[in-house]
Amino acid sequence: KHPVGVLISGRGSNMAALVEASRSLDCPYTIAIVASDKPDAPGLAWAAEHGIVTFAQSPKGMPKVEYEAIIDAALRDAGAKTIALAGYMRLLSDAFVARWRGRIINIHPSLLPKYKGLDTHGRAIAAGDESAGCSVHIVTEELDGGAVLGQAEVPIEPGDTPERLAERVLEKEHILYPKVLAEFVTQ
Ligand code: GAR
Repeated sequence: KHPVGVLISGRGSNMAALVEASRSLDCPYTIAIVASDKPDAPGLAWAAEHGIVTFAQSPKGMPKVEYEAIIDAALRDAGAKTIALAGYMRLLSDAFVARWRGRIINIHPSLLPKYKGLDTHGRAIAAGDESAGCSVHIVTEELDGGAVLGQAEVPIEPGDTPERLAERVLEKEHILYPKVLAEFVTQ
């Protein structure tokens, strides 16, 4: 199976969806490592409890190149061939993206190219959009700007709050990400 390294910063529910999907026999990928920039990320504990190799490195107090070299080494040591960002809330440097060119994907909670960056659901509601959603895309040097590999759409309901909308979109994320990652590693 194709070894994938997952980067997280927090809860890790998308990472958990990838791990769970990876355990079905016909899944083409395996999760080689889950790494985090936040040593206390709840997702790291979940991954360890589920028998996944985990790694944490805080970027605090060191140059970004040094932090990224450590993450890069952990991913390579674990044999990762593809990186899946799953709620990893830190920008990767151009040099890191170049080293893994075309082999990093991300899930973003909007219908890209709309609402790159943060507060995607609040912005979709404020704009009066009829629907919101999530996208899986290739990571390039441009924030949330690489080719979109798959999307799922969720209707915005009257009186929706960003929190309620986020919950419904998240359910779709958990279905979309494993599906797109499986397609991506077999293409
Ligand atoms: C997810 O909704 C993901 O799409 C979003 O953060 C959440 C992480 O949740 N990602 C971004 O906003 C990336 N800029 P999770 O840790 O439970 O997967």
